[in-house]
Amino acid sequence: MLRHWLSAGLWAGALLLPVHAEEPSVEAGLRISNIGGCHDCHTQGFAESGGKLDPAVALKGSTVGFMGPWGTTYPSNLRRTVEPMSEDAFVDFAGKLETRPPMPWFNLHHMTDMELRSLYRYIKSLGEPGEPAPDYVVPGEMPKTPYIVFAPPQMPG
Ligand code: HEC
Repeated sequence: MLRHWLSAGLWAGALLLPVHAEEPSVEAGLRISNIGGCHDCHTQGFAESGGKLDPAVALKGSTVGFMGPWGTTYPSNLRRTVEPMSEDAFVDFAGKLETRPPMPWFNLHHMTDMELRSLYRYIKSLGEPGEPAPDYVVPGEMPKTPYIVFAPPQMPG
């Protein structure tokens, strides 16, 4: 009796195991881009609108720079980034990416293969890449666009 019960339990356990992990998809990519904060910087107007995603500009980059000791950087147009890349090339690129601040490039290194593939498929699904974001401006030079200053306050010693 006990043996039967045990083996029934083992079978039930086996049936509960997932057959396969979640497959990459455009829908998962949209969710990852939202919880990963990518639109906060790479989609112009997103943060200011309280997180309303305008598909016409989603991940097309921003003309508002971030100025700090590194110069002034602009969130890249990610549609253009992925345009020439295969899915495998993007997984490799994102897994090794290092950029200037304030891009949290190290966060991408924690994404799973499924998450990076989903992100790629989502970005590819967005359509026309459009114009690149403005060029990086070196420290000490003034940008020709609006910018946000990222500088810690100088605290008295
Ligand atoms: C705090 C703002 C910010 C957030 C959040 C952010 N990025 Fe960025 N990202 C940037 C900036 C600025 C650059 C340009 C860095 C430079 O010029 O070196 C950049 C660059 C990149 C690049 C390099 C593009 C290229 O063509 O070289 C990729 C890829 C990227 N971001 C993906 C993402 C993804 C995916 C997310 C969400 C998980 C994300 N970023 C979140 C600001 C941000």
